[in-house]
Amino acid sequence: MKNIRFGSVERDPDVRMLDEMRDLLLDQDFAQDADNQPLYYMYRDLYRDEHLETIRENDIRFDVTVMPPKKLGRELVKTKGHYHPEARKGVPYPEIYEVMAGEAHYLLQEKDRGGGVSDVVVVSANSGDKVIIPPGYGHITINTGRKRLKMANWVSSRFDSIYGDIEEKKGGAYYETIAGEFIQNQNYSDVPELRPVEPEEVPDLGIVEEEPMYNMIESPENLAFLNRPEKFEWVFEDLY
Ligand SMILES: [Fe+2]
Repeated sequence: MKNIRFGSVERDPDVRMLDEMRDLLLDQDFAQDADNQPLYYMYRDLYRDEHLETIRENDIRFDVTVMPPKKLGRELVKTKGHYHPEARKGVPYPEIYEVMAGEAHYLLQEKDRGGGVSDVVVVSANSGDKVIIPPGYGHITINTGRKRLKMANWVSSRFDSIYGDIEEKKGGAYYETIAGEFIQNQNYSDVPELRPVEPEEVPDLGIVEEEPMYNMIESPENLAFLNRPEKFEWVFEDLY
């Protein structure tokens, strides 16, 4: 996969390889036999020159991820998945995604204190849809379409993602098969039933289907929830 140009920025991708995810897959026959191969491409820190100062001042980052369609044995191709650390005591950093092309399921799972999960939802998203990751929810993106999935995210630049929890559990709380079924990951105990939900708009912050998400930088106060989630409880409560 080649580099992409965004405004005047040219970026080579970070490439997520199968070798980094073999233990996190449903189909272990496939996982242990398949040749190492690229699964998805992450283009981090994209901007148009006129927005660079605003982006840096606000400690935020715009990334694009490209994931070609693929079957990983019996399971659909997916991201590795991670949690975020806390922005304030008890309030982890949130995130917002946009599907730019293709179809995706966003598996969101709320971590509980015992290392398990207290809530699991799957958000079905198509081109233009925005998906808010509420504080405390680990997230995995699954390419459910036959075409390349291209998605973007706005996120705080103040933290590194936490991969350990999902690595220890060998994946998210559910795996999605190529037949579209969700199979519970037996490494979790007491997993709640999966709740299918639709993407939610937040018009007060300019989070609407018809507006490209990059344009939120024109009103950076609308992205303040990424670094100060404790002040935006109204966005997250009753979200899904
Ligand atoms: Fe994230």
